[in-house]
Amino acid sequence: MPDPRPPLLRRHRRLRRTDALRRLARETHLRVDQLVWPLFVTPEPSGQREVPSMPGVYQMSVPVAVEAAKQASADGIVAVLIFGLPPEAEKDAVGSVAWREDGVVQRAVRALKKAVPELCVITDLCFCEYTDHGHCGPLDERGHVVNDETLANLGIQAVSHAEAGADVIAPSGMMDGMVGAIRAALDGAGHTQVPVMSYAAKYASAFYGPFRDAAQSAPAFGDRRGYQMDAAQSDEALREVEADVAEGADIVMVKPAGPCLDIVRRVKDRFGLPIAAYQVSGEYAMIKAAAQRGWLEHDRVMMESLLAIRRAGADIVITYFARDVARLTRRG
Ligand code: PBG
Repeated sequence: MPDPRPPLLRRHRRLRRTDALRRLARETHLRVDQLVWPLFVTPEPSGQREVPSMPGVYQMSVPVAVEAAKQASADGIVAVLIFGLPPEAEKDAVGSVAWREDGVVQRAVRALKKAVPELCVITDLCFCEYTDHGHCGPLDERGHVVNDETLANLGIQAVSHAEAGADVIAPSGMMDGMVGAIRAALDGAGHTQVPVMSYAAKYASAFYGPFRDAAQSAPAFGDRRGYQMDAAQSDEALREVEADVAEGADIVMVKPAGPCLDIVRRVKDRFGLPIAAYQVSGEYAMIKAAAQRGWLEHDRVMMESLLAIRRAGADIVITYFARDVARLTRRG
């Protein structure tokens, strides 16, 4: 009897048979030097506090942050993203504590650059951690963030970060014209070589919930839907990115990463500059919580979630898992 089955010329399983073959044929790689590790820095003289909704993430005093950064750098981490937590008592309606020379971010940047000069220190540029109302800029009488006044303040904040030694400025407030305003302010102060990594397509996402505990930046009233993007939008993300590229952004970011893999891919296909994606606090918290309950395998889910972000087209991934990945990769 002749075999009735057609010959199978294409057997996809051939290249999946051994670990060596799978590694040889692998398209996407996750390397530690593609990751950015976020750090929350407090003005306290010493010590640290774990963020309850983000196991393994700490609010660190400057000395603790410096030690952590030294170890991270030794583990192969090349970049950190700094968020500052100023004293509650110093917050005001515009967030002026954000551009003080002795502000928490400015002090942290100086200390980090002194202790670990090779580390790329990126600073998040926004006002929600510094205003007493928790919104990303000064408000009008109806409680809306005033765009153009915020731009001027962002320029001042950016220059103060650059002056402290920041290697990259990362504005996250989703104000119209923010990249152009920051670029002009930096250039005007002689910081023409400091790049801007713009949170270009940032969605008003419920996945930022744990971050607002970590950074003590929850809005006192309302939400951020007046300036961050609606989850239903896709073409609008391209318009946002296009504007930031035209204004001089050096790196554009999509955020959150996991829920926006389609956006990461569209941005990657359309714009020829480095794309970053931010795996945010809620994505991290979900994996940690499920792993703690034994419902998911921590390391495998972590690596798969990050590889998916890379596969979608992200060149750079901002993730709270950065040090876990570094440890895992070092072990092989
Ligand atoms: C500040 C900022 C936020 C995040 C990064 N920068 C919070 C927000 O926009 O509400 C979120 C990061 C995360 O959830 O991990 N504007």
